[in-house]
Amino acid sequence: MELKIIETTKKKQKPTSTPKFGTCFTDYMFVMEYGNGEWKNARIQPYAPFSLDPSTSVFHYGQEVFEGCKAFKNKKGEIRIFRPWENFKRMNASCARVCIPQIDEKFVLSALEKLVMLEKDWIPTDEGTALYIRPAVIATDPALGVHAAHNYIFFIILCPVGAYYAHGLQPVKLFVEKDYVRACKGGTGHHKVGGNYAASILSGERAAQMGYDQVMWLDGKERKYVEEVGSMNIFFCLDGKVVTPELGGSILPGITRKSVIELLRSRGIEVEERIISIDEIVEKTKSGALTEIFGTGTAAVISPVGHFMYDNVEYEVGNGKMGKIATEVYDELTGIQNGRLPDKFNWVDKLN
Ligand code: COI
Repeated sequence: MELKIIETTKKKQKPTSTPKFGTCFTDYMFVMEYGNGEWKNARIQPYAPFSLDPSTSVFHYGQEVFEGCKAFKNKKGEIRIFRPWENFKRMNASCARVCIPQIDEKFVLSALEKLVMLEKDWIPTDEGTALYIRPAVIATDPALGVHAAHNYIFFIILCPVGAYYAHGLQPVKLFVEKDYVRACKGGTGHHKVGGNYAASILSGERAAQMGYDQVMWLDGKERKYVEEVGSMNIFFCLDGKVVTPELGGSILPGITRKSVIELLRSRGIEVEERIISIDEIVEKTKSGALTEIFGTGTAAVISPVGHFMYDNVEYEVGNGKMGKIATEVYDELTGIQNGRLPDKFNWVDKLN
């Protein structure tokens, strides 16, 4: 497919400091449409709103998928995207689950590379900053009725970002949810569809009112086993190993999660992917066998957890501070991302 570039006549003022996560977008976006059985009209065009009929299917039935990855620029001007091919692969798996037609992963990756290079002056270079990349597909049939749509828009937008949490690398506080569930096996929890996040908002709001940053979800059946956190996968350092919930069909297969497992193993640290109950976590926190908890995600990167609340009791983890393992993993991962360290795992898509 041909990729057109439609120049903008009006460039925006670039921010002088790092904007709040996800609030400031660049001059261009990538768009292509699906209709009559094919993806077409691929273009990089000025960033602009879509005009959609109120009956458009995505507004009513949520037939939508999205992704999140990041481009980095270091002080030498080197530009890299972190494992973007993994995002497009996962996006196609999400599309399959909600009956959205498959995308050509190679084509959208090359379109993304062109878009990022066109917007290279928007990529911040300070430590902890990046250009966040948000690809998404929405169903656009202008008609009511629950079935797979015949028309879609795929788009990619870009925004310069710093830390996902307002307090940066300060440890976050998690609220363990017992009343609501995010996902269960057979549902869509292991795919990146907007509806998963809609289902999480009520708990997130309740947690925020109580002073917690995010919700830690338990499994949908027994409400006993830890699954993931609002916008991250979760890791527990206990008994001298690192444990993370196994991907059992209701947990998002995070690309940062997978990278962190590889990094830890390459450092000689034993990592177990297994079911882990909230009771075990409470017991090992009380006994001191659990020394650190941290979350992983594209937006959150590595996010230490200082406290969690379960059953009306708040527990402190690692004196409420960022631990040794989280710090080492953060340094190595961000070092690979911005070119401070060699790309020994071949994770980086170098654009210049
Ligand atoms: C990401 O980490 O990129 C995500 O998509 C999480 C999002 C809810 C901000």
